[in-house]
Amino acid sequence: MRIILVGYGVVGKSVATILARRNTEKVKDYGFNPKIVAIADIDGAVINPRGLSSEKLEALRQIRPISTDPEYGHPEMSALDVIESVEAEVVVEVTPVNIKNGEPALTHITKAFKTGKHVVTTNKGPLALAMPSLTELADYNNVFFRFSGTVGGGTPMLEFAKHCLAGDKILALRGILNGTTNYILTEMSQNRVTFQEALANAQKLGYAETEPSMDVDGFDTACKVVILANWIMDKKITLREVRRTGIRDVSLQALGEASKRGNTIKLIGTIDGDAPTVKPTEIGKNNPLCVSGVLNAVTFSTEFAGEQTIVGKGAGGPETASAVLRDLLDIRHSLADRQLENLDFGVWRK
Ligand SMILES: NC(=O)c1ccc[n+]([C@@H]2O[C@H](COP(=O)([O-])OP(=O)(O)OC[C@H]3O[C@@H](n4cnc5c(N)ncnc54)[C@H](OP(=O)(O)O)[C@@H]3O)[C@@H](O)[C@H]2O)c1
Repeated sequence: MRIILVGYGVVGKSVATILARRNTEKVKDYGFNPKIVAIADIDGAVINPRGLSSEKLEALRQIRPISTDPEYGHPEMSALDVIESVEAEVVVEVTPVNIKNGEPALTHITKAFKTGKHVVTTNKGPLALAMPSLTELADYNNVFFRFSGTVGGGTPMLEFAKHCLAGDKILALRGILNGTTNYILTEMSQNRVTFQEALANAQKLGYAETEPSMDVDGFDTACKVVILANWIMDKKITLREVRRTGIRDVSLQALGEASKRGNTIKLIGTIDGDAPTVKPTEIGKNNPLCVSGVLNAVTFSTEFAGEQTIVGKGAGGPETASAVLRDLLDIRHSLADRQLENLDFGVWRK
């Protein structure tokens, strides 16, 4: 499987590392032989049609911009040129998130579909803004589109719902889908620090960006709600349809009063019969959803199996890269199934 990696930041580098490390085992276990044939970032590209060696991938970590690599560098080529002209089966799109217009990822993904390439992304932007049309475009071009790293980092929340609960019907879900806000609310509730102090701690620890709006105003959670609603509950919605309130106005007093009732306040994304919402919500401290620190958790309410909760780390380079590897393997299996179906069809026709 030849791969074009678009973006060589925290996640992109972890994807390169995990593919190099697990390669031998995966070839043995699954007949899966991934090769990164090109990497593109904002300044150009490196291309080797035979696959970049693990030594080269390691060396590229130290080179900035990567396109100045003397052997394989192409400073003149954009990511779009690479997607269009380099022969590969899959594009792994891991550029920064943008929820205003989804770019540059939206254009990268649509170009990949139109040139017959499967796509794996961890970028929520294009999905939050245009998930129904993107999945339709992938189907139309007969390619696979996978994005398990967009929700829950390495924790397989989308797969759990899609595959493990496949025989059941998911009626509703509620989740803590953002580690930064969960850290802030946990700090406020357990250590009685103000929102501003907890935010400053989160920034010091690298959990929150200098510009924290995406997390604290609930946009990140709302993007994940859109992805869950489309992928698991078959609702054709985009970010505009999610009612969203962030955590800036959660006070120490409100947390104290909740605590007296045996509860706490968490930023919860909900999808049920009504419009999807994201808002600070009081929940019981004994509720399985009530996880601390940067953890994420989702409870699925199902018709037959009752409530099922999945908990795990919601972000991190290696964790998210493991989701990318899972998606690549899933594409590998889906391609094998497709080949088998074609074979059966041939036999049937005879
Ligand atoms: N980090 C996590 O834990 C995590 C978890 C889940 C999901 N995600 C998502 O995964 C994606 C990648 O995250 P990250 O942490 O790896 O981000 P990052 O460290 O900022 O890396 C982004 C990479 O994309 C490159 N890039 C920027 N603009 C580009 C363009 N126009 N064309 C091609 N490349 C471009 C950047 O190049 P320069 O460095 O030269 O600008 C950089 O190499 C984001 O959408 C993020 O939301 C991240």
